[in-house]
Amino acid sequence: MANFRLAAFAAGLLAATSLAQADELTPTGSWSGYSKGAAATPPMGWSSWNTFATNISEDKMLGVAQALVKSGLASKGYRYVNMDDGWWAKRRVSDGRMQIRTNQFPSAAVGGTEETSFKPYTDKLHALGLKAGIYTDLGHNSCSQAYPAPDGWLPQGSVDEREIGLYGHTDQDIKLYMHDWGFDYIKIDACGIRDYAPNRDHVKSGQYHTLAPLIFGWDIGRADIAGVRKLYTDVGTALLREKPDNDFLFSICVWGAADVRSWAKDVGNISRTSDDLGPIWNRMLSNFDSAVTRPLYAHPGSWNDPDMLYLGYGEFDENHLTEARSHFALWAIINAPLILGNDVRSMPKALMDIAGNQDIIAINQDPAGNQAVLAYDANNVQILVKTLASGKKAVAIFNRGLGTQDVDLTAQHLKFAEDGDIVLTDLWNKQQTKFKKETKFTVAPRQTLIFVADGPRRLKNGVYLSEIPGRVNPAADGVKTPQPDPMLFRYQTWGSTRGNGAHPQYAGWGGAQADISPYGQTLNIAGQPFDAGLGLLANSRLEVRNSGANGFAAEVGVDDSTLDKSQPTTFAVYGDGKLLAKSTPRRYGEKAEALTANVKGVKLIELVATNAAPAIAQPTVITWGNARLLQ
Ligand code: GLA
Repeated sequence: MANFRLAAFAAGLLAATSLAQADELTPTGSWSGYSKGAAATPPMGWSSWNTFATNISEDKMLGVAQALVKSGLASKGYRYVNMDDGWWAKRRVSDGRMQIRTNQFPSAAVGGTEETSFKPYTDKLHALGLKAGIYTDLGHNSCSQAYPAPDGWLPQGSVDEREIGLYGHTDQDIKLYMHDWGFDYIKIDACGIRDYAPNRDHVKSGQYHTLAPLIFGWDIGRADIAGVRKLYTDVGTALLREKPDNDFLFSICVWGAADVRSWAKDVGNISRTSDDLGPIWNRMLSNFDSAVTRPLYAHPGSWNDPDMLYLGYGEFDENHLTEARSHFALWAIINAPLILGNDVRSMPKALMDIAGNQDIIAINQDPAGNQAVLAYDANNVQILVKTLASGKKAVAIFNRGLGTQDVDLTAQHLKFAEDGDIVLTDLWNKQQTKFKKETKFTVAPRQTLIFVADGPRRLKNGVYLSEIPGRVNPAADGVKTPQPDPMLFRYQTWGSTRGNGAHPQYAGWGGAQADISPYGQTLNIAGQPFDAGLGLLANSRLEVRNSGANGFAAEVGVDDSTLDKSQPTTFAVYGDGKLLAKSTPRRYGEKAEALTANVKGVKLIELVATNAAPAIAQPTVITWGNARLLQ
């Protein structure tokens, strides 16, 4: 009897799994990536946190706003002025309305300390031609309440009055902030759903009510991924209701937890891929790594966010210009938001020149929205290539280490023809150089060279999908069990060596990749290597925005690096929801099959790779070799 019940339960579970799987693999004919809000290109601006922490005021905010305008940074694109943690006085219990610290924001006291409004403040920012950002938390309470700074501001009043987060108030607060007060940008932090377990000191002491955590540090196994996603999705719904003109920016801040690196692309405009950045080189490496391997998970409307820029402090101050230039160039080329955090009122010229480098800003703001792809990747040196709307490439050569590094940049890295002239324009010193096939650089420790490269394309009549990750959305990436990502620089967190060290974290390992397998291997089908292509797991569906191509082609098969060798996989191409082409079932060790489809007039192409694998521990690794759109 017991066995029968177990078998029936297992059968039910399997049926449910394959139904859910069938759903996400069914072509829809429509793009499912997030495209609401005002993030056609990554947002640019300034945030109060890195300089002022919770000690913010209207004076400081408006002073920086004026400095942005006066310095010319605003006209170069730095338009958002974002108020981070620390603005709140308390929540009025009678009607749940949030109240502002009027001693710090005098213009908010429209009806004394009881009737407060940020409208006069946002009006001032708007009159300067700027945009206004505000900050809140998903839970009842904020990060500063869980981690109070010795001299920092905290909300006042009873336990209920100090519940200043969105939990239970999402619709009311979003209406107040975005509609009534006129903010344009909102950052939603997540300490409230992590740091208020009953066993925490500030809860045990009665200072705060408990809220059952949905995330537990970066422990992916314990996180309630669906629960976190739902809370953020509810915020998105409220934003759309309050800002039907789409003039909002929705910033998700759950630091890479809850597998957010996989789903934020469908839910918000920018999403933190890692813990907070600090003014520390090694920490910058770690945050950079958390975003650099995710080019397929970003597109116009939704960007990976490795955190605000730390220019001006510590290892990125005016005494560390090599590091400061690297930090800026790297953030720019991976389409990270360019949000300054230094005191712009007293910004040294050398740093102004870095943040104000219009050629590098233009790389970040390129309308094609392709995040750079790693064309060469090693622990000490990386080459990143980003395809621009013009068809030219931006290329960054990054020496991560402490030794001088010789670097060969090849036409192959750029997907340019080996026999044509390639012109490089250095975006720091504006010098031009020319080469064929390959050229050599000597790169100083921690230096990043950044160029625009112009030359004849290797693929004369089309484009590889791995060159245009901004037009590819992994609607289903085949990952069934999120795994921590071992490929990140493991930085000693928060300056301490207590405990046993830094671990792989943030999940996302095994996700869809450009020009590499999901587990970081060269793409190979039966011994045939591909330096261009998309690497995925089976039971995946990619959405590809077509813009005028007539043909699709790829060489497809099970990748040699697969751990599962048992499952034959079928590759299918759909156009606006209709089947256009299908491979024979491809087995491990069989040569790649050429797959072509006529996509003339098609708006959305979908690439679906399926096999009969149940939810097993080791999925099948597959390759869309040379996947390309043709004229
Ligand atoms: C968290 C966020 C930071 C900042 C602080 C404010 O740590 O990750 O970016 O907003 O909270 O308390």
